[in-house]
Amino acid sequence: MSHIQFVPAATRKPKPDEGGLGFGRIFTDHMLLADYDVDKGWHGARIVPYGPLSLDPAAAVLHYGQELFEGIKAFRGGDGKVRLFRTEKNCERMAAGAARLCIPPIDPAFMLEMITELVRVEQDWVPRAPGTALYIRPTLIATEPFLGVRPAKTYTFFVVLSPVGAYYAEGIDPVRIWVEAKYVRAARGGLGAVKAGANYAASLLAGEEAKKKGYAQVLWLDAIEHRWFEEVGTMNLFLRIGDEVVTPPLGGSILDGVTRDTAITLLREWGAKVSERPVSIDEVREAHARGELREVFGTGTAAVISPVKELCYHGESLVVGDGKMGELSRRLYDTITGIQYGKLPDTRGWLR
Ligand code: COI
Repeated sequence: MSHIQFVPAATRKPKPDEGGLGFGRIFTDHMLLADYDVDKGWHGARIVPYGPLSLDPAAAVLHYGQELFEGIKAFRGGDGKVRLFRTEKNCERMAAGAARLCIPPIDPAFMLEMITELVRVEQDWVPRAPGTALYIRPTLIATEPFLGVRPAKTYTFFVVLSPVGAYYAEGIDPVRIWVEAKYVRAARGGLGAVKAGANYAASLLAGEEAKKKGYAQVLWLDAIEHRWFEEVGTMNLFLRIGDEVVTPPLGGSILDGVTRDTAITLLREWGAKVSERPVSIDEVREAHARGELREVFGTGTAAVISPVKELCYHGESLVVGDGKMGELSRRLYDTITGIQYGKLPDTRGWLR
């Protein structure tokens, strides 16, 4: 695009071995930058060689956390084509999240254009091995050097790209989850519904303590009663209780996940009864006692579907189903990845 300047890198890095990519450690040759100031608005979109940012130590983001990010993937199909999956939803979510953090939003159509152009420039970096993708990390930061607490007057938007394999070492093997009764991720009215880095900082200690106890991640309960299920790790949460699939409603403390919406849409198309309703630890314990806790899984861009085999609540272990990946989790994983890699038809217009 003529209004996105391109400064090519003088040298190109060797492409990594696709067998051992892991998640988010390797970055491509270029990144995208754009700036905001009060006079010019968002301007100066440019694709430049990947490298460190120059930031004033007084930049507001470093002190008061005025920051927001997104997580998106580009997939290479067996036909060699590179596909973006529902990326317009991420761009809309970033604009909504920016408003919550008093950051001037970027027009979602322009954000999509910038991402598409960066991926076009870096298309050789989209890996080919099964289960791999190019992870796209758009980020908004407050750059104004000022230590007063108020919204900054200058911002930078950047996008970096990372070829990735599985997010969790377990892949789609079911994991053990600690139901977190002490720490909370987010309270209603706070930042839980937006993809602010602050939410992830708030989650770290609980995650570390759970890992020490032998659990892969935590299941977050609500901030007031510590009873209602919210999210699992960095993912949205689904439970199959008897014949109903339940996911907590978007009440202001839960992220409106793109994979969450995709799973709800597919499950409803398949005729499943899907309820977006509050679900409590008490209900889940009772369902478990009746033998009706059939599946529990997380949904997210990074891992797609992450099945849960066991929940531990105050020392009580609730084994989910037969402890293996459930039928719906498996079907969702196969269908979503099938669409993303172009193996299944894109009848819903989810790909670009
Ligand atoms: C996701 O599940 O896509 C996430 O939010 C994880 C990401 C923060 C690495």
